[in-house]
Amino acid sequence: MTHFLDIHSTDPGDLRAILDQARQMKTARGDRPKGTPDDELPLAGRVVALIFEKPSTRTRISFDLGVRQMGGTTMVLSGTDMQLGHGETIADTARVLSRYVDLIMIRTFGEDILTEMADHASVPVINGLTDSSHPCQIMADVMTYEEHRGSIRGKRIAWMGDGNNVAQSFLHAAGSFGFDFTFSGPPQLDPRDDLIGAARRAGSDVRIERDPSAAVADADLIVTDTWVSMGDAESSRQRRHNLLRPYQVNEALVAAAPADALVMHCLPAHRGEEITDAVLDGPRSVVFDEAENRLHAQKAIMRWCLGL
Ligand code: CP
Ligand code: NVA
Repeated sequence: MTHFLDIHSTDPGDLRAILDQARQMKTARGDRPKGTPDDELPLAGRVVALIFEKPSTRTRISFDLGVRQMGGTTMVLSGTDMQLGHGETIADTARVLSRYVDLIMIRTFGEDILTEMADHASVPVINGLTDSSHPCQIMADVMTYEEHRGSIRGKRIAWMGDGNNVAQSFLHAAGSFGFDFTFSGPPQLDPRDDLIGAARRAGSDVRIERDPSAAVADADLIVTDTWVSMGDAESSRQRRHNLLRPYQVNEALVAAAPADALVMHCLPAHRGEEITDAVLDGPRSVVFDEAENRLHAQKAIMRWCLGL
């Protein structure tokens, strides 16, 4: 079964092939109206279940639209409305859904939930974000970087703030795509040690730099994300804000980076918190290209999962 669970558990050659296909499909569509089908309809007759146990704008809409453009049908499901949210096991849900649909995308909490779904499904499962990772986002981010600046190999990504699920997926991707990674945030919110070690063993030069200006000094790309993720306890909000405030991506920080460094944020952004309006709306920001490329990257991921 060809699941897309994480960047590091996907063959690097396949990751490249997925991005090549995403670029081709994006080019082939041109600027035709968004609701019109692609020239090729590889998902004709296929049904995709999109399960959300957490809120979503981009993931929900880009997967739904992508399936439609490729000729398929979607079912967008909320975990709380399913028996899943009322005691039915993940394993049984996976077995049942596999009798109805051709592909499952799930956004959930623990990584163990995603793994249990994949272990018991007889159709491919795609990770639409867990507390630990967000691989579809990183595929779109690599695609976006390369559209603007060419190959990401040998470039340095500076992550500012919380060592969260998106940061961890960047670490997963560092070895696969051959980029270097600087983490700049408070020690209490570092990414997992084992992921830092694995990225280093995979050939990435991973640095921890507590001084934000020093962290961006040689960055090709600056990335940040919310200070409170969907899986984080609401009670930790004030503590997190206090710890993370020095790592805000603002004009002064961007001025400390090389002149051609880009800025990314997976969105939703909390303007004035982790990033300022001036940066988000400024000339270095490619955040809306990232959001668009979720669509193209995920269409290629779905085709790869289904061997289409
Ligand atoms: N970036 C992202 O995954 O956004 P949503 O939470 O809106 O899906
Ligand atoms: N780190 C954020 C990403 C949202 C797309 C979260 O998990 O809430």
